[in-house]
Amino acid sequence: MLNPYPMTALVHVEDEVLENGPDSAEIEFRRVTKTYGAIAAIEDVSLAVRGGEFLTILGPSGSGKTTALMLLAGFVAPTKGDILISGKSVAAVPSYRRDQGIVFQSYALFPHLTVRRNLEFPLEMRGIKAAEKAMRVNRMLQRVHLNDYGDRMPSQLSGGQQQRVALARALIADPPILRSTNRSERSIAIRPAPD
Ligand SMILES: Nc1ncnc2c1ncn2[C@@H]1O[C@H](COP(=O)(O)OP(=O)(O)OP(=O)(O)O)[C@@H](O)[C@H]1O
Ligand SMILES: [Mg+2]
Repeated sequence: MLNPYPMTALVHVEDEVLENGPDSAEIEFRRVTKTYGAIAAIEDVSLAVRGGEFLTILGPSGSGKTTALMLLAGFVAPTKGDILISGKSVAAVPSYRRDQGIVFQSYALFPHLTVRRNLEFPLEMRGIKAAEKAMRVNRMLQRVHLNDYGDRMPSQLSGGQQQRVALARALIADPPILRSTNRSERSIAIRPAPD
């Protein structure tokens, strides 16, 4: 299955960063595809970022932005294609040797429970009966556009999909108060690996 959502890359060149050019590395994606079973998280992506450029990847939830960063960081390997840092393929370089700074985000979902079980949890805590529980979970999955994702584990979702599960779990028991904390989005910075 192709990922139906387009992903766009914006490159912004920072004069100040360019002056410090030697400290930052070049990145190249050559026709990179990453699939999970039948699902293509990113499909045939090529891009080049020069040292000193500041890259922003835009795209709808599920379009493959985090997958691109995970590939660059070496947390997942491409199914097809190659990634180069400073002109060298990093296919055989483990993530701890890639010398990258990464900021993650997390939504505190129960990692061992499916999306559906995550949503059922607050209802069970309140003693809600099975039929009502199923109805509320289905309605909530629809509301956050995750009808087809009930059986996935949180680790199999994009960040925005996880965020929607977290929101759905917070709303599903109709609480009188909703608390929310903004978290920093992912960002990544690269320095060249020492030779
Ligand atoms: N481990 C996995 N198993 C199966 N599918 C996955 C897995 N990780 C990601 N996906 C799927 O790959 C697609 C791309 O995910 P990715 O996390 O790269 O999206 P994203 O652009 O970062 O989205 P968001 O803006 O919601 O964070 C999504 O449809 C997601 O459900
Ligand atoms: Mg993401």
